[in-house]
Amino acid sequence: MPAEGTRRRLLQYYSFDHAVELLQRSSNIVILTGAGISTSVGIPDFRSEDGGIYPLLKKQGFSDPEDLFHIDSFNTDANGFYRVLNCILPPEDVRISPTHAFIKLVQDLGKLLTNYTQNIDQLEEQAGIDSKHIIHCHGTLAPGKCITCGHRVKAKYFLPFLRKCQKVGAPRCRVCDQKPPGSGKTVPKSKKRKRGEWEDDGSEEENRGIIKPNIVFYGERVADSLSPRLAEDILKMDLLLIIGTSLKVAPVSNILVEIPSHVPQIHISLKRCQMRGVTPDIELLGECDVIVEELARRAGWKLKHEMIPDAPEAVSIETLEGSTNKHIVRRLKPPPAKFEERSKIPQEDTASVHR
Ligand code: OAD
Ligand code: ZN
Repeated sequence: MPAEGTRRRLLQYYSFDHAVELLQRSSNIVILTGAGISTSVGIPDFRSEDGGIYPLLKKQGFSDPEDLFHIDSFNTDANGFYRVLNCILPPEDVRISPTHAFIKLVQDLGKLLTNYTQNIDQLEEQAGIDSKHIIHCHGTLAPGKCITCGHRVKAKYFLPFLRKCQKVGAPRCRVCDQKPPGSGKTVPKSKKRKRGEWEDDGSEEENRGIIKPNIVFYGERVADSLSPRLAEDILKMDLLLIIGTSLKVAPVSNILVEIPSHVPQIHISLKRCQMRGVTPDIELLGECDVIVEELARRAGWKLKHEMIPDAPEAVSIETLEGSTNKHIVRRLKPPPAKFEERSKIPQEDTASVHR
């Protein structure tokens, strides 16, 4: 018997080919994604022991790295936040991953109901997924908005500036500061304000004119659109695909327990989901790019991406001992060279942020 509050698994779905069949026959697919779908293009995830941002920051001296993404930390030390933000910025020449291309393909096949993404990298848009199909549960990096006067800084100005923040600290509002972020332009002496001018007046004054990214910080409400959209989707959806998320962060993780239990769930990730109450029908364990490529191939869908070889490479599918529905999926040939894992925070800087 499943524990109380635990969804009862749909026992008729357990194999890789069941996953393929579900994709083929479903017409209103909800896809819930996390940082794991962007790791292959050089953006680290948060919690993986090898390469995740939080373990990395821990090694660099932050006792509670998650705390850096709390709105209270931002409000007390925006400069510190902007110094570490650098480590999750997409590379300048970032390309979408095969998994983004797969989600776009699901859309092109008319089967995508909604992609609930926890990612702030906006690669969904870059992949061509229509904004009407996307809910950015944790916001997006851009645009920026002044926390004092609400002045918005468009993505095209804000994103390039974010790369400089590691050195120069938090971007400031030109309306409040009379100095456009990063422009280096000077303003008439009488009007010019120095950084830290308000330091003695308490943190509210100190933070005057700081630009905040469009990210949902811990302690802030997730996208307002999430709940009403989910309420609508629940009535229509016929498949839930969860890709590359540890499901550790509520309320997004609650989506799994909120949707009707008769809707089949497929979980694709490097690691098994250990969340209480979460019981996907089929778990496909391995690199999501490899898994979606194989799912698409078996479904007879043409998934095109520069990282996908023209001639399909064989994969092995091995069922975990003692289970029927958990399968380890591996490419038999070595995968294409991964973009280099980045750790862009110099030790000195983080040490000083932390102090
Ligand atoms: P996590 O880092 O918690 O989880 C990423 C998951 O993806 C892990 O389970 C990895 O094993 C898996 N993964 C990594 N690379 C993969 C790959 N190539 N193929 C398949 N799976 C892979 O990231 P999220 O679940 O997205 O919130 O984190 C949720 C939220 O926690 C983030 O949105 C962020 C963070 O704190 C805020 O900042 C508010
Ligand atoms: Zn302002």
